[in-house]
Amino acid sequence: MKAVIPAAGFGTRFLTATKSQPKEMLPVYDKPIIQYTIEEAVASGIDDVLIITGRNKHSIENHFDKSYELEYTLQNAGKDRVLKEVRKITDLVDVCYVRQREQNGLGDAILCAERHIGDEPFAVLLGDTITKSKIPCTKQLIDIFNRYEKPTISLKTISNDKLNKYGIVEANQSESNIYKISRLVEKPKISEAPSNLAMVGRYILTSDIFDKIRQTEPGVDGEVQLTDALSKLDEVYGVLFEGKTYNVATRFDWLKASIEFGLEDSTKDELIEYMKTFIE
Ligand code: G1P
Repeated sequence: MKAVIPAAGFGTRFLTATKSQPKEMLPVYDKPIIQYTIEEAVASGIDDVLIITGRNKHSIENHFDKSYELEYTLQNAGKDRVLKEVRKITDLVDVCYVRQREQNGLGDAILCAERHIGDEPFAVLLGDTITKSKIPCTKQLIDIFNRYEKPTISLKTISNDKLNKYGIVEANQSESNIYKISRLVEKPKISEAPSNLAMVGRYILTSDIFDKIRQTEPGVDGEVQLTDALSKLDEVYGVLFEGKTYNVATRFDWLKASIEFGLEDSTKDELIEYMKTFIE
């Protein structure tokens, strides 16, 4: 299966850090955000990734491209461990790029993938969300998609105060963690949200979404919303994601993810010691 990663946004929620660099390249602990996304795609069996980019996004292309000078320098310096890490990035998967000319929203960004995708089902992974789970989030969706062969979206229960920040669904539970979705609302008012089930940035879509996007008028923020296009489909399923999500477009989740990943690495003891002393 192919994957599409939209990465054309301005990253306004993370200004000024994103004034001259893409938000997808901000590090979370020791890697740029987009590398986590691509690693999840690869771990889910995806072998072809299309990144939708815009102006100012060259550093994403450079990151996944071979850097001969760097590799040569590391090799001569005998820095074999780092060299291996650097090579791993380029060997991950085939990455292609297409530019979204104007930033007209997530729906419009997905439409830019039409030619690359053709008629096959495909995965969409939003780089704002990093997921952590035993079975990768996209793989959990692919497994359910393979049973129903209908568009499938990852869901998570969220607290009331965050309902206006996500696409929210109205849905009936059909199996333990599977829901049949009857309504999708992009960033509703908290008082009007149909449930606490939020879409958390992973989708398996079929190619009929492209026509639906073309038929979709601009919605929230004057942008063509993927949620509104999904509303036009007859059958959409949701899977309650078993795992953790970090919405790294928000400062607190970004910080939380960096700390938690640091606690899983060799920095663990030093970090705990530092936090203890600092809090005291
Ligand atoms: C997008 C989608 C929204 C989804 C969210 C997940 O919104 O439009 O439906 O719930 O991602 O992160 P954004 O956060 O890009 O505004």
